[in-house]
Amino acid sequence: MTQHDLSAELLAPDFYHYVSAPIATVAAGNDALVVDWPDGVQLSCHRFWLRENALGQGGIDPATREGIMDPSELSDAMQIAAFELNKSGDLRVTWAPQSADDSVISTYHSGWLRHIAEGKHLPESWVPAPEAWNASTLSAPPQRNAHAVVKDNDALCEMLNDLLRWGVCVLEQAPTEPGFLNELAARIGPVRDSNFGLLWDVRADVNLAGDAKTNTTANTGLRLGPHTDLPTREIPPGFQFLHCLINEADGGESTLTDGAALIEELKATCSDDYEILSTRRWVFFNRGPGIDHRFSAPIIDPLSGEGVPTIRAFYPVRAFPDMPDADVGEAYAALRRFHALADDPRFELTFRLGPGDILCFDNRRVMHGRKAFSGSGQRHLQGVYIDRDEILSTARAVNRARAARHKL
Ligand SMILES: [Fe+2]
Repeated sequence: MTQHDLSAELLAPDFYHYVSAPIATVAAGNDALVVDWPDGVQLSCHRFWLRENALGQGGIDPATREGIMDPSELSDAMQIAAFELNKSGDLRVTWAPQSADDSVISTYHSGWLRHIAEGKHLPESWVPAPEAWNASTLSAPPQRNAHAVVKDNDALCEMLNDLLRWGVCVLEQAPTEPGFLNELAARIGPVRDSNFGLLWDVRADVNLAGDAKTNTTANTGLRLGPHTDLPTREIPPGFQFLHCLINEADGGESTLTDGAALIEELKATCSDDYEILSTRRWVFFNRGPGIDHRFSAPIIDPLSGEGVPTIRAFYPVRAFPDMPDADVGEAYAALRRFHALADDPRFELTFRLGPGDILCFDNRRVMHGRKAFSGSGQRHLQGVYIDRDEILSTARAVNRARAARHKL
């Protein structure tokens, strides 16, 4: 007989520590066991799901805590022969023997089952839900100290929560040495590369001669209206970090507009525009020697349908309508109103980045922009992208660690 209790402490199919949550009753359901807690919370566990999540014995590998059972190995003979609760209130399942000398008993941690019953296994768990904002409800981006975020996990947690809740955060008092973003990124996750490089510069010499070359409007002194970067990609970069090293130019103030708030406004006041913007497609196109990134998608792109849609709104690379000819006129009309709304002081924050500030924001949700700049002063920013998956993964890990420390 093989027991799945691999140590004195009952292990779970992942590496988190679970506080015991003794189950009150267990009953047979439809090809499943239904467990109930004393407060009425209930979880139905399909027998195949239980078999896949048996720690050891070909279910979950104790070393990697990953499933190792190919679905083709699941068989109709994998039946629950008996079930009970142990003294600690964990679930014990005796599996029907597959052969004469085979008998398997699996024990499932009550706290682990409870976290599933509470939905804490879902992707949206352990991180704050997005809250739409406008210029009245968020008068300035939340501010955090850059050194604290690099040194302290609670500060990192607060910053990531700001990014997931508001889509924006400004880190202050960072060193003004180039490359500091690499140190910050190392705290969060891998940097996303692009044809602009892992760590890219936003720098324009305002005295550039007319024949000077740059491959992006960002590296000019031109105004950049509210936009999101790299809509030419199937999944544009999730988050953007802009580190201000020098800002001596006249003008060049930064702007931010919450796309989540624009979507709410459109749905409430102009649902026709919302429908057009979220269904009519445009081809976005990075023109450059040796590159040809293109993607066709609507301005408000639901992508997977989860969470806030992705805003694709960088007019320098919006190249062609990809919709019936008859729709182009109304698509332009909706686009004009959308961009006017994005630049409306009711929705748009305007502020000036100073040396040592790092503007961090959700590049798929929050539209950013820049006023034109001129004069003799220099303006130099560096940027990195970090994908949403990395932000979410680190945010869940630090939120869970903090909850465990505070026994939340
Ligand atoms: Fe940009």
